[in-house]
Amino acid sequence: MTSSSPSAGTRSAATTPVAGSDDAIAAAVSTIRRNIATFGGGFPGDTTVGDRYPLRPAEGGIPVGGNRGWTTSFRTGMLWLAWELTGDEVFHDAARIDVADFERRVRDEEDLDTHDLGFLYTLSTVAAWRLIGDEAARDASLLAADHLMRRFLEPAGIIQAWGDLSDPAQRGRTIIDSLMNMPLLTWAGEQTGDERFADAVRRHTEQLREHILREDDSTFHTFYWDAETGQPLRGATEQGAFDESCWARGQAWGVYGFAMNYAVTGDERLLEASRRCAEYFLRHLPSDDVPFWDLVYTDGSDAPRDSSAAAIVVCGLFELATVETDAERAAEWTARANAILASLIAHYTPAVPEASDALLLHSVYDLPKGNGVDEGTLWGDYFYLEALMRATRPEWRKYW
Ligand code: GLY
Repeated sequence: MTSSSPSAGTRSAATTPVAGSDDAIAAAVSTIRRNIATFGGGFPGDTTVGDRYPLRPAEGGIPVGGNRGWTTSFRTGMLWLAWELTGDEVFHDAARIDVADFERRVRDEEDLDTHDLGFLYTLSTVAAWRLIGDEAARDASLLAADHLMRRFLEPAGIIQAWGDLSDPAQRGRTIIDSLMNMPLLTWAGEQTGDERFADAVRRHTEQLREHILREDDSTFHTFYWDAETGQPLRGATEQGAFDESCWARGQAWGVYGFAMNYAVTGDERLLEASRRCAEYFLRHLPSDDVPFWDLVYTDGSDAPRDSSAAAIVVCGLFELATVETDAERAAEWTARANAILASLIAHYTPAVPEASDALLLHSVYDLPKGNGVDEGTLWGDYFYLEALMRATRPEWRKYW
């Protein structure tokens, strides 16, 4: 095992820096450092409240600051990124404290009834395995992947998103975000040689491409299958404006998720799906390149923005550019990613790092439920820092 930072201080000569990216990284790192002192081993909430993260509230027997829900690993992922960017052991040590708690969470089977095991374990324990060869973290990652496989429903060939598998309200329901949870299964398949993992990835992503992506290139947020017969039923939203609207973050998950799953399956229809999601997303951006929370809103609307969707799409466009088979289109994806990132840096970050615990301001978690509207979010912060990493260090190896 080594604890030397793999990419600290490196920069490819081919990189054209996005305006302000070095200062943006310095500001982000200073906030992450301060948050280690603020939160200690406790986990912050999903979103800020008035630009400050509260400690994660207690729920279901898990105490305040406990490791529950789907977003805690974004903090861990930021710690790993900050370590890679700086080489400062304070980030490495804090990340390892989080990783130990993720190992405990999966061993104790605590709050695992979710497809989001991919987000949770990719950015914590898989990253620990990739970066420092941590064997205990590898074992925990494989346990998490086994749990995720329990959600694979035959004969539909899909991974159920939420809830206990016997919950009739959630039975057979998938969501577009799940594309980002497939890399945990891909990684587990590579580690074990067990073909069940790759088969689940191939079938689930194929079902989403077929049914969650609509003819006009927009996406449903969620889609239901009949779990008994395997028949596709209907699209529906949970966090978007209405069932037929295009929830901005979902479309961003589509860009990134289809591109990553194309890279591992080689299925060219997934590459085309990522391109279609990207084109739709880019066509529906307002003039400052940061989307409203749902893509039905356009310039002139007073609807809130979702800067987290912008941060995700920057990473997705960079990923799409790396797997794109057409060089001209790859250059276009990179140029659009750089423009969105420049707007985030210039207009969606705190004036000074001390002004907020978040790296990125003006995101939306769930507007229909009034949850985290115009606030910082843990995932917005993570993908903003990943975007900065990708923009400035294209040789960086992703955790996904
Ligand atoms: N994955 C849940 C969300 O994007 O809100």
